[in-house]
Amino acid sequence: MEVLSVRGGAPLRGTAVIHGAKNSVLPILAACVLCRSPCVLHHCPNIDDVHSAMRILQYLGCRAERSGGTICVDATYVDTCRIPQELAGTMRSSIIFLGAILSRLGCAELALPGGCPLGARPINLHIEALRQMGAVCDCSPECVCCSAGALHEAVITLPFPSVGATENAILAALGCAGSVEIQNAAREPEITDLVRFLQSAGAKISGVGTAKLTVCGGTPLHGTTYTIMPDRIETASFLCAVAGCGGDVTLLRTQRATSEAVCQILEQCECQITEGCDTLRICADRRLRAYAGTIVTAPYPGFPTDAQAPMMAALLRAEGESRICETIFENRFHHVPQLRKLGADIALCGQTACVRAVEHLHGAAMHAEDLRGAMALVIGALQSEEESTITGIKHLRRGYDNLEENLRALGADIKCMEIC
Ligand code: UD1
Repeated sequence: MEVLSVRGGAPLRGTAVIHGAKNSVLPILAACVLCRSPCVLHHCPNIDDVHSAMRILQYLGCRAERSGGTICVDATYVDTCRIPQELAGTMRSSIIFLGAILSRLGCAELALPGGCPLGARPINLHIEALRQMGAVCDCSPECVCCSAGALHEAVITLPFPSVGATENAILAALGCAGSVEIQNAAREPEITDLVRFLQSAGAKISGVGTAKLTVCGGTPLHGTTYTIMPDRIETASFLCAVAGCGGDVTLLRTQRATSEAVCQILEQCECQITEGCDTLRICADRRLRAYAGTIVTAPYPGFPTDAQAPMMAALLRAEGESRICETIFENRFHHVPQLRKLGADIALCGQTACVRAVEHLHGAAMHAEDLRGAMALVIGALQSEEESTITGIKHLRRGYDNLEENLRALGADIKCMEIC
């Protein structure tokens, strides 16, 4: 079993490179199923969820190979429409293959997806969107089977701007002869990245970046070369780490525009953030001040739910009282009891966490239950001079490329140990 050993207490200084976005590369890998000649994707993070997506592509009969940060996918031939449990169960994003395979082959069978235990995580919005295009979907507790003689035109209004349902609807719509309008679509930058990739492969999609997307399907897509956008959640995680520990760090290959909500909160808490050309510098040279209002997670461009746990960890010693309200997932406070082991003062009232400043944090043995919560534990541990250990590291491996090396380059004392 892997265990992280962390000894903190020192400011972070130096530079760190931000990788390509996990939540962008995963739907784009699924979208490659629609392209009838090879695709080349640059700036792909080396993380377990990407390995899982590549294994799914290989199982489907596609070629998927990595060389450094570049992944080549050749989906000239797709042999099967079925993804079994041992592949689909490894991550939530396997659900996006449903729309892609349906669009390409006219049928799809997928064991129910896995992913972080953040709540019920139903797929009703995905299924309803596919049904509105004429797909016949049969859902059992184990799997979902969809078939479509010919997908048809539709106007789909999502009751909630679900990221995954928007992605599935876009991919399925490309298999329709005619146009599909998706209203109340998610506007997350990763959707924009997916649409730009599809456009570069020949797709006709308008409304990019807005809540109303129009997809004109029916034209086969060709291969393309595309560079994945920077990971805004990895960016937010490093910004929060520096805010919590203090220091002066420049993040390379990233941008402010997609992390605006996180930057604004950190600035109000006394951090200075400066944007350069593809860089973000954060300077936290005095004690943080608590956030005066309530940080409320919301669909983009609101504060991202994926940054909620890292932000909470950044604010553990911030002078005053900060409140964070989680509105997207009903069960996304797994990190709270773990952070309390460090001496953090966090009260939970329903979906709102109230963080009161403590002067010092001490070392603790913590266990991570989900990806972003795991990062929060690392940020918490980095603020204590005493040693902490963190288990449940497999979650970090799903979403952070090269995390320990990146943090060590900033002066952090963090190492991974193998224990029996
Ligand atoms: C994606 C991201 C995840 C992020 C989330 C919200 C990926 C791989 N993952 O997840 O990191 O935290 O967006 O920004 O991109 N819902 C339903 N029915 C559905 C679908 C969703 O009720 O059919 C609910 C969910 O339970 C949740 C909310 O809608 O409460 C948001 O989910 P959604 O936007 O779909 O998130 P994901 O696509 O799963």
